[in-house]
Amino acid sequence: MGWKSIVLAGGSGSRLYPVTATVNKHLLPVYDKPMIYYPISTMMLGGIREFILISSPGDIDQFRNLLGDGSQWGVSFEYLVQEAPRGIAECFLIAEPLISGHNVALSLGDNIFYGSGLSARIQGACAQPDGATIFGYEVADPRAFGVVEVDAAGMAISLEEKPKVPKSNLAVPGLYFYDKRVVDFAKQLTPSARGELEITDINRLYMQAKALRVQPLGRGMAWLDGGSAEALYEASQFIKVVEERTGLKIACLEEIALHNGFTTAEELRARFSDRAGQYADYVRRVIEREG
Ligand code: G1P
Repeated sequence: MGWKSIVLAGGSGSRLYPVTATVNKHLLPVYDKPMIYYPISTMMLGGIREFILISSPGDIDQFRNLLGDGSQWGVSFEYLVQEAPRGIAECFLIAEPLISGHNVALSLGDNIFYGSGLSARIQGACAQPDGATIFGYEVADPRAFGVVEVDAAGMAISLEEKPKVPKSNLAVPGLYFYDKRVVDFAKQLTPSARGELEITDINRLYMQAKALRVQPLGRGMAWLDGGSAEALYEASQFIKVVEERTGLKIACLEEIALHNGFTTAEELRARFSDRAGQYADYVRRVIEREG
């Protein structure tokens, strides 16, 4: 069976209060599109088409309104609720009926990736049927992240969540690929000191099974997030600068769908024939170019 992708858009967005008092963080704009478009685009670039979106009870309908059943991009979306922010790893328990027997990719809704070779890396991770693949990204200060140490063969040898004294500068971005064991591993977890089921603890179980591969993302790749006001502003600036310079959009789901053959130019032309705005103008240009 193929890969299913969980996109996690829960949490309270507390670091962005009051912006997030009435709006889910992952619906906020990163320059010209909702934040959630970026992690979805990352997975679509890797060829993944089956999505499960998880958010909080009060917010799930807004995602349903935004993304629908996914057919407009030739993908599918199912929706599940996380009742309380009990941690990233709880998503595997929530999604169990939909994912058991499948390999599962997980992306955190506020993680943005941009760089040459991204599709190949995702495809490479999806080509591994067994074990788990995470990524390692060199950062100046890794203390706010999961931190991994890697041996010469690219296997993880230590993992810590938000260590005060990190053992390496390799942060673990919010993009994870797991084999079918992930639900069983999630059932073994107990809440951490911050009261959450930690994704780092899932990764540790794979590491103990000698099955946690760490792919270096490399300095040619940008990894950004939208977790704080400053990070959100910087991410918007980054996307704006690259898009204006190249004339190409990052995370335009219609463009990726067309490029991957998930949808057709005719379908997109019909949907965008009388839609206003610069995003729609861009989609029409893409249709003329590729269609
Ligand atoms: C989470 C993970 C952490 C990872 C980070 C990436 O942190 O727990 O391991 O490095 O996402 O964005 P959190 O957002 O829960 O602070």
